[in-house]
This record gives sequence, structure tokens and C-alpha cells, in this order.
Amino acid sequence: MGDWLAVNEKGRLVLEGWDSVELAGRFGTPLYVLSEGAIRRRCGELRETFIDRWENASAVYAGKAFLTLAMCRIVQSEGLGLDLVSGGELFTASAAGFPLDRALLHGNGKTGEELALALASGVGRIVVDSLSELETLEEVASSSGRTASVLLRVSPGVDPHTHRYIVTGHTGSKFGFPVAGDSLREAVRRAMGSSRVRLKGFHFHIGSQIFEKDSHVMSVDILTGAMAEFRRDLGLVTEELNMGGGFGVDFTQEGRTPRIEEFTDAMMARLSDRCLDLGMERPRVVIEPGRWIVSEAGVTLYSVQTVKRLDGGLTYVAVDGGMSDNPRPSLYGAKYRAVAAGSMKEEATEVVTLAGKCCESGDILVEGMRTPPLSRGDIVAVLNTGAYTFSMASNYNRLPRPAVVLASEGRADVIVPRQSYEDLVRGEVIPGHLE
Ligand code: LLP
Repeated sequence: MGDWLAVNEKGRLVLEGWDSVELAGRFGTPLYVLSEGAIRRRCGELRETFIDRWENASAVYAGKAFLTLAMCRIVQSEGLGLDLVSGGELFTASAAGFPLDRALLHGNGKTGEELALALASGVGRIVVDSLSELETLEEVASSSGRTASVLLRVSPGVDPHTHRYIVTGHTGSKFGFPVAGDSLREAVRRAMGSSRVRLKGFHFHIGSQIFEKDSHVMSVDILTGAMAEFRRDLGLVTEELNMGGGFGVDFTQEGRTPRIEEFTDAMMARLSDRCLDLGMERPRVVIEPGRWIVSEAGVTLYSVQTVKRLDGGLTYVAVDGGMSDNPRPSLYGAKYRAVAAGSMKEEATEVVTLAGKCCESGDILVEGMRTPPLSRGDIVAVLNTGAYTFSMASNYNRLPRPAVVLASEGRADVIVPRQSYEDLVRGEVIPGHLE
């Protein structure tokens, strides 16, 4: 269990000092609970082991993992930047007053409007994903009289052994310029020759939920090779190298989430060696973790609705949420750990399947949950749900999105209110002929 979770004398799961059953009663279920302390501790670790440890090193939090106005404020106060991937994320950061010169804009299908918004709002870096995007960016910059500071996203062609939906830097990826081939060189040439673009360097992000450092280190090798070639052939001095995120988090009871310096120390050592060998100055470095910062800081609370015991021993415990608030088990086969939040000290005598309430056989949150007997109204907590749950939530089956509560020492605040049924139809229109 994460360092912010405990059990009280009533045998209940305690979240950042708050009795989880009481939180569920006060704010309703399903409920996302995020620990401010746990998020800040991770940011602190990042500062200690990476930002403060190396010269010219910084980190941006990948907002796609979990982004709200309050999260932007936490990230800002921790001294991190933001990785944004859409106009909506950019709007969120801007609405929170986030210093956008510390943000960068990603994406393989950025629209002209998103590029224009990024330039107009002073986003620090645009990470260009293709030649056609580079052309659009030049047009947009020139029509607004601005200049864009860019990185080129490179797909290094490595396979980091994770779920195939979340690898991004392999050969044939939809992301970035393949390191082999002409398009990268052409983009470098074009960017260097453009009056609307300042080419600052390169970016790679090879995938998500990665536990071994090797693919990251190999990517550093590959990128430094390309940097040396471009310096030799085109005279390009790479000022900045963004080494992406993807640092894995363990969802099982054993919890062997790697320390982030297992990756960063190895990447930095290799980068320094390679730069020395190739006779280049080491560029500024950036990393962009998402899940590693926020996943373990989140728990989702549900209320048990039905318990169905089938002949043959299978027991389904159905709760009041499911793939609409956490699509990861059905989308990636992600395995979570669930606990009976109200009876943590009781013996686990049953093995049940924790089922979501969506109208899909695949809406199973946890298989093989070991638990004391559960009945209607009991609170179940699914652990380690801070990343890619709220941010990937939908209104499937017209389920209103749960509230998000930020638990801090001595206070628990709703940072995103629960959607109402009215919210579900807000803005919908019945055209005249159907009136
Ligand atoms: N940088 C870039 C360019 C990215 O595309 C991503 C994630 C990150 C950083 C942050 O990766 P992280 O440190 O969080 O692994 N929905 C999937 C994960 C998709 C990740 C997409 N890109 C999931 O729930 O597992």
C-alpha cells in the first residue's frame, strides 16, 4: 500500500488521515480520492534525485495522467513544468494561471487552432511530430508574427516491452520522426532554415509503464548518435534533449515501483559519456513523468450494490462504477488491487470478481479479489488509481463522472464536483422537427 494509506482502530482504510468509509459517506461514491501529500512527495523525490542532482535538468509533469485546475497549482508550486497534449489541456493550465513558458505542447495530430493557441499563450516548447506539422506551424507562426521554439520528436525504434497499446517509440509508430530515414534530417534542415522556428533540440518518449531502464538508455545512445550527425553535417548544436516519461508503477500488492533514479541515473551517465566521446556539450535535459507522480496517490471508492454467487463458486460483487471511471482493466488488461475499506482487519475468506456496472461483460475491475464477505453498501477501495482513470473517464451508459476529492493534512476538498444527471444533457438540443 502507498505511504499515505493506513488502517484505523475500527479496521477501516485511512486515506491521508481520513477514514475512507466516512469520506464515502460524506462525498458519495464512486469517488476518486487523491492525496496531495503523496503527489508532493513524488515531486520532491524528482527534485532531489534528478533536478537538483544534475546541472540544467528539469521535469515536466505529463498532464494526460491526471489534470485539473488544482493539479496544475500543485505542479506549479512544486517547480515542475507541464506536458500538454491538446487545446483542452492547454486551456486548463492557462485557466489555472500556470506559467506556460514552463509548458510544452505534444501530439501527433495537433490542429492549426491548437498551434495558434499555444503560440499566442506563450507555451515554452512545441514538440513537432511530423513534416506536415512543421509546415503548418510555420504558416501559423508567420500569420501571427510569432516564432516557435521547437523540439523534434524522434522515434528511436526501440521496443520497451510493455502493452502494445502504450509503446510509442518503436519502428512504425504513429509518433515522431523515425530515426532511420530521411524525414528527420529534412525536418532538421527545414527548421534550421526557417525564420519562424527555433530548433532547440529533440525529444523521445518510448512508451508507458516501463520497468527496465535499458530501452531508455538505448534511446539516449541512438539520439546522441543522431545529434552528432546533425552537428557534423548541418552544424546543428542541440541545446536540449527531452527524454520523455514512461517510468512504471507496480499495481500489485508487492509494489515494486522502481525508484526514478534507476532510470535517470543510467540515462544521465550514458548521456555524459556519449557527449564526451562524440565531442559535444551535454544538452539541457528534461523528463516528463505522468503515472509515476500521480498513480499511487489515488484511490477510487465504490459502494457494493449486489453480490451474486453462481453455482460453481464464482462470486460477482458489483459496484456503482466501473469502466466509465476506470477503463484500464478492460482496455489494457490492467490489474489492480482492491480492498474492503470497512473491514481491513478481517480475514479474507472469499475470492470474488469485482464487477463494474457498465453493460459490458468486459467491465470487470478486479479478478481474484481476496476479501472478507462483502454485502450491499460496503465500501470497496481500488488502490493506485491516480493516473489515467479520471483523465480517461467517459459517460458510457450515461453514468455521471464521479467527484474528485483532494485529501490533504486536516482537510478534504472537492476539486471536481460529481456530475449530475442535468450535466449529462446540458447543451444538448432537440431539433425543431423532433419537438
Ligand atoms: N510524454 C509523452 C510524450 C507521452 O506520450 C506520455 C504518455 C508521457 C510523457 C507520460 O507517460 P507516463 O510517465 O505517464 O507513463 N493511457 C495509458 C497510458 C498512455 C500514455 C500516453 N503517453 C494507460 O492508462 O496506461
